[in-house]
Amino acid sequence: MSVVLNGKEIAASIIENIKKQTEKLQEKPTLAIILVGHNEASRIYVRNKCSAAQKAGLQAELLEFEENVSAKTLKEKIQSLNLDSHIHGIIIQLPLPAHLPTQELLETVDPLKDVDGFHPLNAGLLQNNNPAAFAPATARGVMTLLRETGVELEGKNALVIGRSQIVGKPVAQMLLNKNCTVTIAHSKTQNLPALVQNADIVVAACGRPKMVKASWLKKGAIVMDVGINRVENKLTGDVDFEPAKEVASFITPVPGGVGPMTVAMLLQNTLEAYLKQKNS
Ligand code: GUN
Repeated sequence: MSVVLNGKEIAASIIENIKKQTEKLQEKPTLAIILVGHNEASRIYVRNKCSAAQKAGLQAELLEFEENVSAKTLKEKIQSLNLDSHIHGIIIQLPLPAHLPTQELLETVDPLKDVDGFHPLNAGLLQNNNPAAFAPATARGVMTLLRETGVELEGKNALVIGRSQIVGKPVAQMLLNKNCTVTIAHSKTQNLPALVQNADIVVAACGRPKMVKASWLKKGAIVMDVGINRVENKLTGDVDFEPAKEVASFITPVPGGVGPMTVAMLLQNTLEAYLKQKNS
């Protein structure tokens, strides 16, 4: 029987802490959110980000664009946000419609305002274990939850399932920075159950509902479920939660685990971006 980590509660206390800090500032740190098209999930995430920003005493500016917006229009908007001293953080909600050059647009964001940590400069700083890096919010959320367990990470076998730029790669890098022995599994990996069996920490970020089975887990493993899958109108993680919680030592639920932490960490990054810009 495991401890179920309450991401919602931990995120609320982080947001409360950000609020205490923003109250002391003369100006509200401001996050610009670029949202393109009508992706329903993206709209929900962005709504959550805006309302959490307000709770944290930050300002969120939502910039909405039609599905068929050109790369040129977006690029020019990003460039003007880069130069706008009232904007401290910029995110482009992903995924973008297929006709847009996602990577090129992410690289247009000023690295000092890149609170999603998707610019290659921040990815490189993270690889160098440089504290100046903005770490992607979900990866930072997973690491914060791991810290909450109080378990020493050094030397642990960590398995990351999924190699996305948004979650899998940065979380693997951050685990490596904490001296874990890191394995990254993906859709071409052979014998995933054996890798899971060997893992002290499992980060499931593959986007396949209930793919990780309880019978694969090592007894006492720490399980971080990053999956948000809608199955029959219900949110389901990448881990088969109910049986897995009988085997794990700590586990995150879906919803209410990693999801709320992602939002809190984005706001933390925005506050840090503001402070960096003011002190530079
Ligand atoms: N889409 C899914 N997760 C994220 C995220 O963390 N940031 C952005 N910008 N888009 C996302």
